[in-house]
Amino acid sequence: MTPHASAPAQHRWVNDGSLGPGRLRYGADYNPEQWPREVWREDMRLMRQAGVNIVSLGIFSWALLEPRPGEWDFAWLDEVIGLLHENGIDIDLATATASPPPWLTRLHPEVLPVTDDGSVLHPGGRQHWRPTSPVFRSYALRLVRQIAERYADHPAVVAWHISNELGCHNVYDYSDDAARAFRAWLRDRYASLDDLNEAWGTAFWSQHLTDWEDIVPPRIAPTHVNPGRQLDFERFSSDALRDYLRAENAVLAEVAPTIPRTTNFMVTEVFPSIDYATWTADVDFVSNDHYLRPGPGGPEELSFSANLTGGLAQGRPWFLMEHATSAVNWRDVNTAKREGDLAHDALTHVGHGADAVCFFQWRQSRAGGERYHSAMVPHAGEDSRVYRDVAALGRTLAELAPVTGSTRVPARVAILFDWESWWVAERDSHPSNRLRYRDEALAWYTALLDLGVRVDVLPVGSSFDAYEVVLAPMLHVVSDTLRARLEAFVAAGGELVVTYFSGIVDEHDRVWLGGYPGALRDLLGVRVEEFAPLLPGHRTALSNGATASVWTERVRLQDDTTRVLASYADGDLAGSPAITRRSWGAGTATYVASDLDAAGLRMLLTDLSLELPALCGDARSADGALEIAVRADDASEYTFLINRTDLEVTSPLEGGIPLNPCSADASTVAIPPRGVVVTRTDVLGEIVERDPRRTDAESPLDR
Ligand code: GAL
Repeated sequence: MTPHASAPAQHRWVNDGSLGPGRLRYGADYNPEQWPREVWREDMRLMRQAGVNIVSLGIFSWALLEPRPGEWDFAWLDEVIGLLHENGIDIDLATATASPPPWLTRLHPEVLPVTDDGSVLHPGGRQHWRPTSPVFRSYALRLVRQIAERYADHPAVVAWHISNELGCHNVYDYSDDAARAFRAWLRDRYASLDDLNEAWGTAFWSQHLTDWEDIVPPRIAPTHVNPGRQLDFERFSSDALRDYLRAENAVLAEVAPTIPRTTNFMVTEVFPSIDYATWTADVDFVSNDHYLRPGPGGPEELSFSANLTGGLAQGRPWFLMEHATSAVNWRDVNTAKREGDLAHDALTHVGHGADAVCFFQWRQSRAGGERYHSAMVPHAGEDSRVYRDVAALGRTLAELAPVTGSTRVPARVAILFDWESWWVAERDSHPSNRLRYRDEALAWYTALLDLGVRVDVLPVGSSFDAYEVVLAPMLHVVSDTLRARLEAFVAAGGELVVTYFSGIVDEHDRVWLGGYPGALRDLLGVRVEEFAPLLPGHRTALSNGATASVWTERVRLQDDTTRVLASYADGDLAGSPAITRRSWGAGTATYVASDLDAAGLRMLLTDLSLELPALCGDARSADGALEIAVRADDASEYTFLINRTDLEVTSPLEGGIPLNPCSADASTVAIPPRGVVVTRTDVLGEIVERDPRRTDAESPLDR
């Protein structure tokens, strides 16, 4: 039995004890204020029918709860909370501060955020507030206190939902409030202005600072803004929102300390602005929102994001706060999910540790900016494919109840993920603006999925010592401390695979001198004098059959302890090394100097697997047709067999028993196209008895 994380603290949202054994949570954002009262009754019926057992409530309710400054109206919310409670549905209660009411910004326009070109973001949408505004904060915290005092003892409230997607629209604010707070943050970080000048390299372009007051956020400038300043502003912006999170947290902790607190992250969402690895200590449990990328690569990105969320939660269960039953409303074209995707997507999250599966939102809005966003109850109503799929998923989650509270069984391979490298690698004024940090990491993740290799995505600050193979795609920012950790990992016998544009700069975005890949040059045993990025449409072949289309570089071996695994086969660099490998202490370090096409990545990993058994595919994956995710508790191991294809796939059962209905015989199980089957194996190797009450029969809702 593989070791797994110790049992999690059981928060009330997981299981308050009154429910018998754990149950997976199921629900949505619930916005009853958009509907007349008669619809609320209907909502209760449909929620019960669909197996909903939790909702997030009040997220955008400030304007109704405090219709005028200091005037409160909780009557409608009392009624909704009472109704939910009567129907056995628990509540993740929002602090309602996500979007300020119109009167607040009329009275205090100074809370409105300002963009880098000086434009004010006006009311009319949502989240139009400055993270650093003392005025906004005082009004918001007054509301938080009112809500906390009123509902602290309500038995249906099992979690606090702080604000909502902090920073979704207002992460970068360039206002005077932000400028003041940025200066204070810098004074805290740097012992002196001399240190800051040194860190930012202000000798360049006459940027030398002699007064803290001369520092402003990186507002729009005639040309490239100082990169050190940009990086610190990004760190500051992430910290400023965390500081706001802490302020709400403090009020809740004082008034209602027994209710766990969370805020919904947007891990790997469209823009990378928040370093969530620095936020996890400020929530009692990790929550995430995820929206599927349409088209090819979408399911892999979903899995990657869920996997990273599991990494942020340190393998413990987390809460999927939002995803979509079908289309969103904010892409150029908003495609509907295909048959089976709703359950596939939800269960992939569960495989990676989600103990709650929630959607945005319960009932599709009739009016407002999200009226075309899918929901659990669509405009078409109960008689619809989406609602039937929603109800079917509710039944599946009930069948998977035994999984509740189990933790992730660590893989043998890890991919490191670093928000700062994401910010910096894609900076302006670089050798190529075609570098995409997340896509590079995702390409390696996908190659491993294709080979049937299970991998954990880990925030770079986590311990990776227990892994056999660690992949560091585009790990661009490498401090001395990180360099030492990577070297120690290899010295102790680990295999490290590093890609191009890694180790290039220190924590201030200053280039490590002496040749690339800078901080990792000695460990990798190579020295690069010049980058050779490729123009769009150009390609370079490698001797092992791989192709590069974004990046190449002129690599020299430091000495003859470094072996060449592949060279460039054409172009200016023909004959020079492209992939190298060398021993270091008890381990080995591989350097990949180019982006590789999907086949090239698979070939390289397959070659490495000859020496590294951790890179050999799991037989249960049917050659990568299935993604394998594994969770475990003290009694059982739960294997998620996630079909990545549009065909039925058969997998060996290896002693496991399916928990959800599927077609299986004694030794194999058939996973339907894009379906997910979860099997349970007793940790002592004994087969768990199949629950005789479980039935494979279709329910009337499965029409
Ligand atoms: C999230 C947000 C929800 C809803 C959803 C729609 O960003 O938290 O309130 O807007 O997106 O996709």
